[in-house]
Amino acid sequence: MKVLTGLAILLFMKDICTQDMPYAEYLQQIQECPKECHCPPSFPNAVYCENKSLKQIPDVPSHTWYLYLQNNLIDSVSEKAFKNATQLKWINLNRNKITNSGIDKNVFKKMKNLLFLYMEDNQLEAVPSGLPNSLEQLKMARNKITKIPEGVFSGMENLTLLDLHSNKIENGALTERALKGLKNLVQINLSKNGLKAMPSGLPGTTTQLFLDGNSIEKIPDNYFKETPKVSFLRLNHNKLVDGGLPKNIFNVSTILDLQLSYNQLTKVPLFHSSLEHLHLDHNKIGSVNGTKICPLPIETVDDYIYEKSPRLRYLRLDGNEIKPPIPMDLIMCFRFLQAVVI
Ligand SMILES: *[C@@H]1O[C@H](CO)[C@@H](O)[C@H](O)[C@H]1NC(C)=O
Ligand SMILES: *[C@@H]1O[C@H](CO)[C@@H](O)[C@H](O)[C@H]1NC(C)=O
Ligand SMILES: *[C@@H]1O[C@H](CO)[C@@H](O)[C@H](O)[C@H]1NC(C)=O
Ligand SMILES: *[C@@H]1O[C@H](CO)[C@@H](O)[C@H](O)[C@H]1NC(C)=O
Ligand SMILES: *[C@@H]1O[C@H](CO)[C@@H](O)[C@H](O)[C@H]1NC(C)=O
Ligand SMILES: *[C@@H]1O[C@H](CO)[C@@H](O)[C@H](O)[C@H]1NC(C)=O
Repeated sequence: MKVLTGLAILLFMKDICTQDMPYAEYLQQIQECPKECHCPPSFPNAVYCENKSLKQIPDVPSHTWYLYLQNNLIDSVSEKAFKNATQLKWINLNRNKITNSGIDKNVFKKMKNLLFLYMEDNQLEAVPSGLPNSLEQLKMARNKITKIPEGVFSGMENLTLLDLHSNKIENGALTERALKGLKNLVQINLSKNGLKAMPSGLPGTTTQLFLDGNSIEKIPDNYFKETPKVSFLRLNHNKLVDGGLPKNIFNVSTILDLQLSYNQLTKVPLFHSSLEHLHLDHNKIGSVNGTKICPLPIETVDDYIYEKSPRLRYLRLDGNEIKPPIPMDLIMCFRFLQAVVI
């Protein structure tokens, strides 16, 4: 997540710094600036129209790369407004009133350079069709999305981040083919939706999988065989029980950060020695036996030999029924532990 944001900023800076603008072009840009918006000379490709109670998108100037329209009353995205804006890279439409029927069918498809599209806090009921294949980040959190039309992502080979948190997506909407075409997806956020089971059909490239605040009770056997790169897995605030976790489900070397807070576990699940962060707070765990949860036979742990010492650095066990002190065998096994919260 941090890495992705960093890259976005770098890209932005580079685009600005390589600008080399003749005076005539500069004048034209000032003339084209919609009267409702602000087009600062120091950011010649940015058009700022946020917080203006706009009901419609103004005609977007042809030179626009970055368009800020957040926090208005816009309910439609018309082809007319974008007729000349063929160079757009980034559109922020967060906090508006956009509905699926308000989006002109071909308006986005024509934006062949669009990388980031943000439409959080709108009134979408489905992931809109006709999004451009050039997209790298798509954020549609806090809408009313229940549907992901089949094929809606086909050809979106560069999309790395898909944020759909706080919608109404149920497992039925996530068919095997719903996410087909996302060949390079890295992060997907499906937190706060209506999932009762783990989503199926996730791209094999998925590294960060966020599923907090659903009603998931179990993880199917071999689930992570389909997504062998998952490193950050968040399942806080779900309904996981011990019986819903197959014995070796987290015995996977790729998982580095595992968050299972606010579930109904009574035992610490088995995990791999590569795991670095484990959140198990606010479950129903009565006790921890360091010898039992040690991913390696505890007598073989050796902090001088990399492969022979589990990597766990941070462990949260507060909000359970465990009483201090921290068991000695826990410290013996996890030589790299920097913090244990009991
Ligand atoms: C727009 O509103 C947001 C939230 O109220 C505020 O943080 C931001 O500074 C405002 N921007 C402008 C340009 O007024
Ligand atoms: C597009 O550009 C042309 C030529 O500069 C201009 O006459 C027209 O009003 C523009 N249309 C929109 C929708 O911005
Ligand atoms: C994906 O990104 C690569 C590298 O920037 C680019 O060459 C390619 O055209 C992009 N694909 C699409 C569908 O835009
Ligand atoms: C994912 O969604 C949750 C909302 O439940 C939000 O708090 C969190 O910031 C999101 N995570 C990322 C990395 O976008
Ligand atoms: C964890 O998985 C490895 C194979 O990757 C296996 O050798 C090992 O026995 C498993 N650990 C347990 C405790 O089942
Ligand atoms: C912890 O588990 C080990 C191995 O299963 C067992 O020998 C030991 O007695 C247990 N320790 C406690 C304090 O229950």
